Amino acid sequence: MAQTPHPEADWWRQAVVYQIYPRSFADSDGDGIGNIAGVTAKVPYLKALGVDAVWLSPFYPSALADGGYDVDDYRDVDPKLGTLADFDEMSAKLHEAGIRLIVDIVPNHSSDRHVWFQEALAADPGSPARDRYIFRNGLGPNGDQPPSDWVSHFGGSAWTRVPDGQWYLHLFAPEQPDFDWSNPEVRDDFRKTLRFWSDRGVDGFRVDVAHGLAKDLAEPLRSMPVIPELDIQVDGTNPLFDRDDVHTIFEEWREVFNEYSPPRAAVAEAWVPTTRRALYARPTELGQAFNFDLLREDWDAEGFRKSITENLAESAASGASSTWVLSNHDVIRHPSRYALPTGLGREGLDEWLLSDGLDPLPDHAAGLRRATASTLLLLALPGSMYLYQGEELGLREVPDIPRDQLADPIWLRTGHQLKGRDGCRVPLPWTVARDAAGGSSFGFGSGGAHLPQPDWFGQFSVEAEEVDPDSVLALYRTALRLRRELQTTETLEFETSVPTDVLSFRRPGGWLVITNFGTTPVPLPSGEVLVASGPLADGQLPGETTAWIRE
Ligand code: NOJ
Repeated sequence: MAQTPHPEADWWRQAVVYQIYPRSFADSDGDGIGNIAGVTAKVPYLKALGVDAVWLSPFYPSALADGGYDVDDYRDVDPKLGTLADFDEMSAKLHEAGIRLIVDIVPNHSSDRHVWFQEALAADPGSPARDRYIFRNGLGPNGDQPPSDWVSHFGGSAWTRVPDGQWYLHLFAPEQPDFDWSNPEVRDDFRKTLRFWSDRGVDGFRVDVAHGLAKDLAEPLRSMPVIPELDIQVDGTNPLFDRDDVHTIFEEWREVFNEYSPPRAAVAEAWVPTTRRALYARPTELGQAFNFDLLREDWDAEGFRKSITENLAESAASGASSTWVLSNHDVIRHPSRYALPTGLGREGLDEWLLSDGLDPLPDHAAGLRRATASTLLLLALPGSMYLYQGEELGLREVPDIPRDQLADPIWLRTGHQLKGRDGCRVPLPWTVARDAAGGSSFGFGSGGAHLPQPDWFGQFSVEAEEVDPDSVLALYRTALRLRRELQTTETLEFETSVPTDVLSFRRPGGWLVITNFGTTPVPLPSGEVLVASGPLADGQLPGETTAWIRE
């Protein structure tokens, strides 16, 4: 007999999920690194913000070769961040506050300190211990050439040689050896990890590099001297990314998720073309996949319209719900992206970081206007919104962290050609002034911050914004409260008779949303204005502003 679904089985479909990068959120013990108890202490803040769930970036034991995405032990907490008991307390406090908890899972690679990798290094070539990872002999008469021309995401070869002459594969840093997912032991161990956290009450998982797990390792290894990014051929046959056989892994994971009631949720990080994304999000697999379109899109009505239309169609076809993302721990914060001239593209943004944020000079006021207008637009869409810590404060990128303090492996491994992602990972400002108690942070912790907070951070602090009714924080709180009331079925109807730089749509229940991407005011539709991303005057919607209207 078919079981009745849990009444909250679909909680994730239209959830607002707040990403916490734990080392940079709040530090309760003064060692300069954010920790689990720091998150627990801020649960009232998260509740007041009105989010439905928290996604916790990796908090596992790690040497931080890649900000925690180099995991030593998947079933423990980094002692620098706390203990399993601290984790349980945080989870309990979040749940008491009605906030669910999603944890990051990193299945493509472990760290080189993981017990399995240490065993592999100590074992002989061809041994079962090596078969959990991807070890190969090198090319050339002495085997001193890498087994293939594959490159790491962080620069340089994707192969590193070990003392006995073999090479191992790492699509990221050398400290992040890739697992061999054709090995049943690897598959079993990850199912064990999913159960470990699910048994502790975790509600879902964010799946790192979901599109990378299955690899074609048939010899000779196929040539692929550049990482194809989004140009991956869309037929599932690329040797390293988005292969068709990756999906059996997630079907097995779904069986584990469905052992729980409500079933555990999941969201794929899969840098694949829009048309392939829905495969990961099928109800028989992960349920959702991040839609990163808007991380690459300028502030532009047509680009937003296209992304919205395509993603709603893709997710409807697969039974998933859409996801919307403007910022995360891997990209330049969106108020800064939108403050720069359009058309810079990824390389232009990298150049801007290398200029310490001086060339071109950002128009911060415009950046913030566009950022909040975008947020209000996306919060009104069907599907889930993933917020990145600090965006609710309107926080900007820190492009001028002193070079000797940069910690991202991208900076080192590209020979200082790319600065990397530290500028969006600077610890959050909680207070207006730097700590009096000798610390040098804005309320992050008494022992300073592991990445330096610039002087302007205080004006973006929670303390400053909590008392300002016109702050970005106040806007997010209002919008999240209203969204809970207004959000209904996952449908939307575009208003077609609007100027080209205006985007407007209706949701069920008389909820009308209008965004003016241009700079000339347009007439406001009639109805009650529920919230707007900027000041309104004379029945007009000013440029670069979004309003929600009850018709
Ligand atoms: C994606 C994560 O978001 C990023 O921070 C990390 O460096 C890579 N995956 C490797 O795990």
